[in-house]
Amino acid sequence: MKRSGHGTLLIGRLAAGGPVLATVMVGHDGHRGWIYYLAVDPDYRRGGLGRQAVQAAEDWLRHRGLAKAMLMIRTENEAVRAFYERCGYGVEERIVMSRRIGSGS
Ligand SMILES: CC(C)(COP(=O)(O)OP(=O)(O)OC[C@H]1O[C@@H](n2cnc3c(N)ncnc32)[C@H](O)[C@@H]1OP(=O)(O)O)[C@@H](O)C(=O)NCCC(=O)NCCS
Repeated sequence: MKRSGHGTLLIGRLAAGGPVLATVMVGHDGHRGWIYYLAVDPDYRRGGLGRQAVQAAEDWLRHRGLAKAMLMIRTENEAVRAFYERCGYGVEERIVMSRRIGSGS
């Protein structure tokens, strides 16, 4: 499989070789950085791992010259919105448009 180098999956563990407790997907299109699919093991939430995962994603983007990190959350997802606000993110009023163009995921 050919790798673009424009995205990666970061994983977080408390100790080397220990279980994966946090994951986040991060990528960019050369202009904007995007954060996707952040998740922390339910037994380890509210302990700072989510914030560390976001910071690791931001570092990954910064290292590649990206100045802005973006993400999308569902309008009704107040909890995740509150989490990202605690991490310094703010809402930008935009309309997201999409169209299904194939059967892939
Ligand atoms: C969202 C999620 C990643 C947060 O991870 P976490 O490890 O619990 O977050 P942290 O402990 O680093 O919290 C960072 C800050 O956000 C706050 N926070 C975390 N979860 C919150 C919630 N559900 N509601 C309000 N604030 C929240 C914390 O209190 C903390 O605030 P502080 O700045 O006062 O310390 C985790 O709840 C999760 O995996 N949720 C399910 C997956 C999901 O919805 N992912 C988002 C995909 S868009």
